[in-house]
Amino acid sequence: MQNRKGILLAGGSGTRLHPVTKIISKQILPLYDKPMIYYSMSVLMLAGIKDILIISTPRDIVFFKNLFQNGRYMGINLSYEIQEQPKGIAQALIIASNFIGKSSIALMLGDNFFYGNNLEEILIKTSKKKTSTIFAYEVNDPTRYGIVSTNKKGIPTKISEKPKKPESNFAVTGLYFYENQAVDIAQSLKPSSRNELEITDVNKYFLNKKKLNVQYLSRGFAWLDTGTFESFFEASQLIRTIENRQGIKIGCLEEIAFNKGWIKSNDLKKIIKDLNKSKYGEYLKKVLNNRWK
Ligand code: TTP
Repeated sequence: MQNRKGILLAGGSGTRLHPVTKIISKQILPLYDKPMIYYSMSVLMLAGIKDILIISTPRDIVFFKNLFQNGRYMGINLSYEIQEQPKGIAQALIIASNFIGKSSIALMLGDNFFYGNNLEEILIKTSKKKTSTIFAYEVNDPTRYGIVSTNKKGIPTKISEKPKKPESNFAVTGLYFYENQAVDIAQSLKPSSRNELEITDVNKYFLNKKKLNVQYLSRGFAWLDTGTFESFFEASQLIRTIENRQGIKIGCLEEIAFNKGWIKSNDLKKIIKDLNKSKYGEYLKKVLNNRWK
């Protein structure tokens, strides 16, 4: 079996963050002490995925290329593609079809933030499954999200987009593990009434074929879609609180790469030299000296 490949979707119009996003991608904006995209990238890396395609707008792709280049310094392989217009999350699967080839897929939205105990373990375990998986998280206001209901055996029975009368409180988050067939499904979709290729339709296809798993993220987890000023601020506060209290960093990509053995001490030393004087660099020095082991 081929390795799972990652798609990081970091385009969109970001209208909820106007006027800021009139000139720059939200995924470049800092959530506390690092660009937003670090957090979504960290999820793919924690899952053990080393081949990642970043998709963004014609205007913004250059920022991501400058930020990460080809990713080799972190021991990963990054590619880049443009989405000309925000025609829906499922369009990412079509744009990525050459990159994906025959592999299975992890699609991650660039404005989603996940944090919680055992996240890495859950991701790795889920990534090994052959069938598709969506991640569900209990929310207070289910009318704002795509909502999944399951039967007593935990098998998903229904997905409804922003339901007026929700059957459950479990929102479908912005991380999707798909079998390769998802590309064909995306290719066969018709645009919705808002003229987008809807990722919900891909999920519904797998659900109807009884080929969809739901991985619940328990109450100890934090999941935020950071696309509004409120959630953006909440995520920044959460990151700041945990990082300052525990002296650890959330979404530190070089640390993940180092811990996974994708880069060696000498590689990390070079990175630290370039980050001289920043707190991020100081933190990586602690990682290098293996302070916690
Ligand atoms: P959304 O938050 O649904 O849309 P948006 O980013 O355009 O923001 P707004 O609703 O404020 O206008 O997008 C979720 C994520 O998916 C976000 O990271 C952007 C990305 N995205 C694309 O890259 N291309 C697309 O066509 C869509 C719909 C979203």
